Amino acid sequence: MVVSSAPGKVYLFGEHAVVYGEPAVPCAIERRARVSAEARDDDRIRVHAEDLSLNGFTVEYSDSSDGAPDVDAAESLVQAGIGYIDAAVEQARDAAGEPDAGFDITVESEIPLGAGLGSSAAVTTAGIDAGTRELGVELSAEEIAERAYRAELEVQNGEASRADTFCSATGGAVRVEGDDCRGIDAPDLPFVIGFDGGAGDTGELVAGVRALREEYDFAADTVEGIGDIVRSGERALAAGDVEELGDLMNFNHGLLEALGVSSRSLDQMVWAARDAGAYGAKLTGAGGGGCIVALDPTESTETALRYTPGCEDAFRAELDTDGVRVEE
Ligand code: PMV
Repeated sequence: MVVSSAPGKVYLFGEHAVVYGEPAVPCAIERRARVSAEARDDDRIRVHAEDLSLNGFTVEYSDSSDGAPDVDAAESLVQAGIGYIDAAVEQARDAAGEPDAGFDITVESEIPLGAGLGSSAAVTTAGIDAGTRELGVELSAEEIAERAYRAELEVQNGEASRADTFCSATGGAVRVEGDDCRGIDAPDLPFVIGFDGGAGDTGELVAGVRALREEYDFAADTVEGIGDIVRSGERALAAGDVEELGDLMNFNHGLLEALGVSSRSLDQMVWAARDAGAYGAKLTGAGGGGCIVALDPTESTETALRYTPGCEDAFRAELDTDGVRVEE
């Protein structure tokens, strides 16, 4: 049996604008999904997941060619979780040249689902690594990133960015521009994350920004302004200037708010973090609900968030320089 894990991510800068060719900087965080894979002597797939839904569940099936099987507790997130595992298994089979390989798979994730923290990418990346290693094949982080991207494309009907899967596979801070993803140097980043317990609809939020950008010049300028913030952010990262990074995160949040993708609970958490003395805070991911990320090396922001209306969970998660890896 092989157990692999892969990290989730936050966007330090640049979500939404990245859709229009501006650069973005996602960063891996010390919150992981763990996937174990044990080869079977038949071609069946048995998946046991602890954290893909509120209740753990187990599902077993033999033919994945029609996509994910129906799960009784038919919550869409559960279905989606199975979809990612199914697509990861297909990639592992393909990479190892063993199309009929069967597996017993267990999934455990510390990453809130659909909240802008890259949970699906982490499960997919760890699943491909565990599955291929169990079949005796070792892929590079770049190969895993490529296969995880293809798996996400399949599950998400052709809509996926390379950012989450690349970041999860390689770890660290990443610069994304179009299809070009590369690791960049970064200091230790003391992230604090606030989660409102909800999730935004990424497709709807992206469509909303697109419509605004077509209707108003200010919105097109705002998207370009986010690109400028990202470029300044890259310089601050290279200089290790965490205070400057915080200021730029605040500007980035303001521009995302102008584009209509924040929410009351996200704004409340952002302001609570700033009031608590964080260097800066912004929403992360598509917005509409889900998570904010703040920079604070002290305990203040985490404590303040715990008492903030609209915040369901708050935790620290430093920048994770490790990407996908085998667990001992
Ligand atoms: O919420 P997430 O982590 O899936 O991030 C969405 C990021 C967007 O820029 C809004 C969309 C995208 O595909 O890049």
